[in-house]
Amino acid sequence: MSSNEIEVEAEPFRIKMVEPIRIPSRELRERRLEEAGLNVFLIKGEDIYIDLLTDSGTGAMSDRQWAGLMMGDETYAGSRNFYHLKDAVKDILGFEHVLPCHQGRGAENVLHTALIKDGDVIPGNTHFDTTKAHIEHKGATAVDCTIDEAADPYIDHPFKGDLDLKKLEAVYKEFGKDRVPFTVVTATCNSGGGQPVSLENMRAVKRLSDSYGIRVCMDGARYAENCYFIKTREKRMECHTIKDITRMEADCFDIMTMSAKKDAIVNIGGFVATRDPDIYDKIKNYGILFEGFVTYGGLAGRDLEAMAVGMYEGIEESYLAYRIGQVRYLAERLKEAGMPVLWPPGGHAVYLDMKRFLPNIPPDRFPGMAFCAHLYLGSGVRGVEIGTLLNGRDPKTGQNRPAKLELVRLTIPRRVYTFRHMDYVVEAVKKVWSMRDEIKGFELVHEPPVLRHFTARFRWAP
Ligand code: F0G
Repeated sequence: MSSNEIEVEAEPFRIKMVEPIRIPSRELRERRLEEAGLNVFLIKGEDIYIDLLTDSGTGAMSDRQWAGLMMGDETYAGSRNFYHLKDAVKDILGFEHVLPCHQGRGAENVLHTALIKDGDVIPGNTHFDTTKAHIEHKGATAVDCTIDEAADPYIDHPFKGDLDLKKLEAVYKEFGKDRVPFTVVTATCNSGGGQPVSLENMRAVKRLSDSYGIRVCMDGARYAENCYFIKTREKRMECHTIKDITRMEADCFDIMTMSAKKDAIVNIGGFVATRDPDIYDKIKNYGILFEGFVTYGGLAGRDLEAMAVGMYEGIEESYLAYRIGQVRYLAERLKEAGMPVLWPPGGHAVYLDMKRFLPNIPPDRFPGMAFCAHLYLGSGVRGVEIGTLLNGRDPKTGQNRPAKLELVRLTIPRRVYTFRHMDYVVEAVKKVWSMRDEIKGFELVHEPPVLRHFTARFRWAP
């Protein structure tokens, strides 16, 4: 139960400033979708009513974070705000060395350039798309070692982000530490449905990796939401504070890449953190090359300050109870209405199962994209496909890689929308459901070579 005595996870904040939003007319929505080549990624934000494309950089900053912006020290080298961030990371996660980067993929680029070579293998639990793209860009291969339960959208398993230790050890045995520079644990696991990783599993992964001399890196974009699941779902963890759990979590890792646009609730920012001075020595040169000097990493001093404050707000228990509670509220309402919802719901988003929603549309006709188009047409709500389009093509065969789970993600920005907005979204999804038999798939008209989902264009299949 949250800190108050009434069991309703109401917002632990009040609203001091509002941003008007409007529902564009049906006619305008039709026009905008057509102009966007049917790809909702290419629609302007002002033509969206409720934007559930992502929880990344879309959170509402607090008054304290905005006040922090006014305290920006824009010194090129040695900005005071960098030291505030460094102290926050040390205090919350225990990592000694912090290299700020402009966002998560900047951190991945720096780390991967320093540690990955051609032909390497990077095991993990369903790597996020930018992580996988960076790995492949370095000529290496990402190997998915998630537990089998994760592939079933309806098994009610508390930690569907866990790694299968047998699969992981098989990779270690086959390739050894010369070809496996590190393993990535994504917590929570975004591409697997925002599913958490248990502390027990993280500890086991660390022990196994240590025995092979292989480092472990946390992709920690949503590390705080993961801690909340550990506290509420894992045996004997209820009595620990979130702050205790953040340390227990981080203790399982040698390195962490962070997209601060998620759990540090900032609009831009990220970092690589490590306790290993040798790794820091390697990454800092690439940080300077790609991002900027080691004390700003592509960010303004004010951004570093907002991030330092946000690191603490992101681990407040009342905030996390409200946050995870709001996502669960949307998932439960949709499930009650008979919608095929991935279960249990994730920390940052509700995922709809397109294999049940639109069973007649095959993966290479992109059912998730067709759903998103209709969701927008019907209500002005924007979701995002997490399926075969996102999965891309096999770099060797050039074939589409049909996704294990064909999903649409309704991603909830932090502290932005109310529970009433969630009710609107439920009605919007029900409307698409009511006409699902008439929905056609997509054909590609334009397909970029990497990260194609961002800018691909389509027409309706006949
Ligand atoms: N890792 C995970 C688990 C992510 O979810 C993301 C971004 C990144 C790394 C990359 O971070 O965007 O700051 O460069 N996820 C966003 C999303 C884009 O919508 O899920 P970034």
